Amino acid sequence: MATSLLISCCVLICLVGCVYAQSPRAFFVFGDSLVDSGNNDFLATTARADNYPYGIDYPTHRPTGRFSNGRNIPDLISLELGLEPTLPIMSPLLVGEKLLIGANFASAGIGILNDTGFQFLHIIHIYKQLQLFELYQKRLSAHIGSQGARNLVNRALVLITLGGNDFVNNYYLVPYSARSRQYSLPDYVRYIISEYRKVLRRLYDLGARRVLVTGTGPIGCAPAEIALKSPNGECALELQRAAAIYNPQLVQMIKGLNQEIGSDIFIAADAYRMHMDFISNPQAYGFVTAKVACCGQGPYNGIGLCTPVSNLCPNRDLYVFWDAFHPTERASKIIVQQILSGSPEYMYPMNLTTIMALDSMT
Ligand SMILES: *[C@@H]1O[C@H](CO)[C@@H](O)[C@H](O)[C@H]1NC(C)=O
Ligand SMILES: *[C@@H]1O[C@H](CO)[C@@H](O)[C@H](O)[C@H]1NC(C)=O
Repeated sequence: MATSLLISCCVLICLVGCVYAQSPRAFFVFGDSLVDSGNNDFLATTARADNYPYGIDYPTHRPTGRFSNGRNIPDLISLELGLEPTLPIMSPLLVGEKLLIGANFASAGIGILNDTGFQFLHIIHIYKQLQLFELYQKRLSAHIGSQGARNLVNRALVLITLGGNDFVNNYYLVPYSARSRQYSLPDYVRYIISEYRKVLRRLYDLGARRVLVTGTGPIGCAPAEIALKSPNGECALELQRAAAIYNPQLVQMIKGLNQEIGSDIFIAADAYRMHMDFISNPQAYGFVTAKVACCGQGPYNGIGLCTPVSNLCPNRDLYVFWDAFHPTERASKIIVQQILSGSPEYMYPMNLTTIMALDSMT
């Protein structure tokens, strides 16, 4: 009798403890096409990945709105952390228990500035993504109460990937663009960094407490830019210069914001360095090329969109770029490995493995 009571007691303690320990962390994603998991498919926009061969290597082998042959970076982070992939905020499936997974607010084409991506018509600009985050929290509160909702958001992991389009689809979109006539490059960078700071501060005010912030990749090395803006097949210099000015200022801004708040809320992921590793030496990572896109047409398969009639490479794992702008699933996997376990040169001030270990102790 006493033994059985003791056993039930232990089982009960374990149940309470185990359930708490296993309650999965929510994940929220903000930004552009690098992390959009299908929101634009619900919108009247030309920036969408809803045709074959997008999704050809996704578990369903169908287009999902992700700008990848398979999974994208947020999917791979979810997979590594043992979480379900986040659903697009526009998805009608995002109801009930699914709200507890988190949500993906990203929308292809957007930037830090509202005028970035104007040519894509109806996309969810970043200020709007933050408004939708607020609305999501109201829906979540209706489901698990306002205290529960606040705890879930405070404990969540957040990823924000933004900024590349402010160069590619704004400042450098056309020669003599409005923004390039208004600002010199260094002044433009200062301006967008100051606007980005407000976005990150707003995320904090909305309850985010662990936020991975990716800098821009080597945007001049995208097949589209090599095809259009490079005279010799090397990475396009002006866009590389933009990334080289922008990324260090982003890290400084993040340091300043963490100091102001008094905690390491924001983590800078150096996407430039992560990408450059395999762009400078593709063979070392098992790629045959880092210049030619798998899907596309024209020089480097870098002209126009990836469509059912484009060239398509047979083995996506051998290519860094899937289409003219976006990495393959395999390149994304290498990036996610760096996010998880990179040294402080890649992940400042710490990698995701360290974050998970720290946060599991609190
Ligand atoms: C974008 O538009 C919103 C709504 O009009 C405004 O609140 C926000 O300040 C704008 N952002 C920038 C960077 O101009
Ligand atoms: C993560 O970062 C820490 C601190 O820089 C480092 O010691 C560790 O090796 C990195 N990788 C993993 C998997 O923790």
